[in-house]
Amino acid sequence: MSEFNIGLGNNDTQTRKDASSDFVSFWDKQAKNLSWFSTWEKTLDWNPPFAKWFVGGTINASYNALDIHQKNKAEKPAILWEGENGDSRVLTYNDMWKQVQKLANVLKSLGVKKGDRVTIYLPMIPELPISMLACARIGATHTVIFSGFSAAAIKDRIEDSKSKIVITADGGYRRGNVIKLKEVIDDAISDLDFVQNVIVVERTKNKISLSSKDKLWNQLMGNAFDVFPAEKLDSTHPLYILYTSGTTGKPKGVLHGTGGYLTHLHSTFKWAFDIKDSDVFFCTADIGWVTGHSYVVYGPLLHGATEVMYEGAPDFPNASRMWGIIEKYKVTIFYTTPTALRMFMKFGNDLPNSFDLSSLRLLGSVGEPINPEVWRWYFKIIGKEKCPIIDTWWQTETGGMLISALPGLETIPLKPGSGTLPIPGLKISVVDESGNEVPANTKGYLLIKNPWPGMLLTLWGDDKKYHDVYWSKYKNCYYPGDYALKDSDGYFWLLGRADDVLKVSGHRIGTAELESCLVSHNDVAESAVCGIPDEIKGEIIIAFVVLKQNVTKDVSLLEKELSIKIRNDIGAIATTQQIYFVSKLPKTRSGKIMRRLLKAIANNETIGDVSTLEDGAAVSEIQSAFDELK
Ligand code: WT7
Repeated sequence: MSEFNIGLGNNDTQTRKDASSDFVSFWDKQAKNLSWFSTWEKTLDWNPPFAKWFVGGTINASYNALDIHQKNKAEKPAILWEGENGDSRVLTYNDMWKQVQKLANVLKSLGVKKGDRVTIYLPMIPELPISMLACARIGATHTVIFSGFSAAAIKDRIEDSKSKIVITADGGYRRGNVIKLKEVIDDAISDLDFVQNVIVVERTKNKISLSSKDKLWNQLMGNAFDVFPAEKLDSTHPLYILYTSGTTGKPKGVLHGTGGYLTHLHSTFKWAFDIKDSDVFFCTADIGWVTGHSYVVYGPLLHGATEVMYEGAPDFPNASRMWGIIEKYKVTIFYTTPTALRMFMKFGNDLPNSFDLSSLRLLGSVGEPINPEVWRWYFKIIGKEKCPIIDTWWQTETGGMLISALPGLETIPLKPGSGTLPIPGLKISVVDESGNEVPANTKGYLLIKNPWPGMLLTLWGDDKKYHDVYWSKYKNCYYPGDYALKDSDGYFWLLGRADDVLKVSGHRIGTAELESCLVSHNDVAESAVCGIPDEIKGEIIIAFVVLKQNVTKDVSLLEKELSIKIRNDIGAIATTQQIYFVSKLPKTRSGKIMRRLLKAIANNETIGDVSTLEDGAAVSEIQSAFDELK
């Protein structure tokens, strides 16, 4: 069935058995691997679509990440930090514990209480996980914003979460340049009076202006007391909000809880990565995305693992940076994205071959489908044919992995490009429009049929939207919005988004978000955005724009203005590859833009039924725009 029958010698059949007989008591057992202040009365309160896990139990994420390791691992490195510019720092579990308690005291002195929100806009420096864990210690809900988002995007998020404190840095390094984060924050909060203080970490020492709201991290921390007992929080206490793109104009605030989320991460981190005390774990994700929350911060620290944290761009100063880091720190487990791998692969085999990568024993991939040829390259050139590769499927909303090979649990044959099997405790199917399971090897919608502990609590401030987006298409089942197929061995193949969400370099971008940005330009009447395949980025963004009547501006000037607008309103990650100015968009007679058509044309697929189309000329105009591109 597969030539890749490679494992790490684990053969735990009991876990699968336990999980298949009763998923609730299965997770009950897993939750006991964490340290609870008091135990729960009810394992699962399932009132679809709301799941409460370990009801009545009290717990603290920061306690489980740090305090529990003080007895045996106080001097063990938690974070081996590598700055983009070559700086490095080692933080032991004791260092982290002290810093987190100090910052918790600082936050408390600034008025932060249990239940408050704190926005964190930091580069990949140790102060980022320290800030998250300090919030968790108090029971404040952290909301981390990726440092590539623009001031306008940040403002939306701070307004939505009503954070009264923002933690940022003077700047951050990216490809040798200093990104002036403090300036972006000044801009974002200029008319948000409810933001009381901004804490500023000095990373790059670039010149910044300080107002009366601003406080320097070092000054606050210098005087702070380093003892702060962790709050005993309900299992369902909100640990964080993370904004992500969906099919509507505004990003959604995905809200995660504590006890369930930690249980999911503790379990999946162990099963997927086979984590051992001697491992050096390296996940390349930015903490601004969920992969960083779950598998840079919470997963590794719950296990008392040593991990590498890298500050900058993966290809700076050149495309061998990752291989250099693996060699330098003797990384044993490496977790990255298909986009990064495609980029590395383009540079050939000589670069990775000139480094000692022999410490590696397990490789992982996340964020988008991995092309089988990239998988094979990863296996052969990076893993030297001895490391299993886990292709982990999950989402911001799921909290942790739901589909992945689990070398820490069992050896199964791997297939390049397949996520393999659901994790224990999950019932997952591929279904048609009416929810019937499709035959093997048939493309359909991925469907999660039972609740799991890492699942989101709700969307921040919008229970109805939470229901409508994920739980209304199929009764009492979670609809993730992905296409998939299940082969005759029961392996899952993830086939990309089934909705209007793009994956550009693994980053999730909503077409509606981009369209509402474009139409807010004075000269634009309408727009439609779609993705087209790209060899390295997976997908790139194409926009069609219909101008208002009587607009006489030069289109190249308009194109420039619109690009700047996207950069300002959302951020550079949403940059369009091409903007086409057309006279009309393909629409149904009832006036809905037929994105299906755009997608089909863009992907060179047959257009299918167009009987509902209002005006065929729109299609030919778009078709010729694409033909020009080829
Ligand atoms: C979407 C979720 C997973 C955390 C980082 C991204 C796509 C994710 C895979 C994979 C194929 C994948 C899906 C999913 N995706 N992992 N291994 N194979 N597709 O989280 O930004 O919330 O995006 O990423 O389309 O729905 P996210």
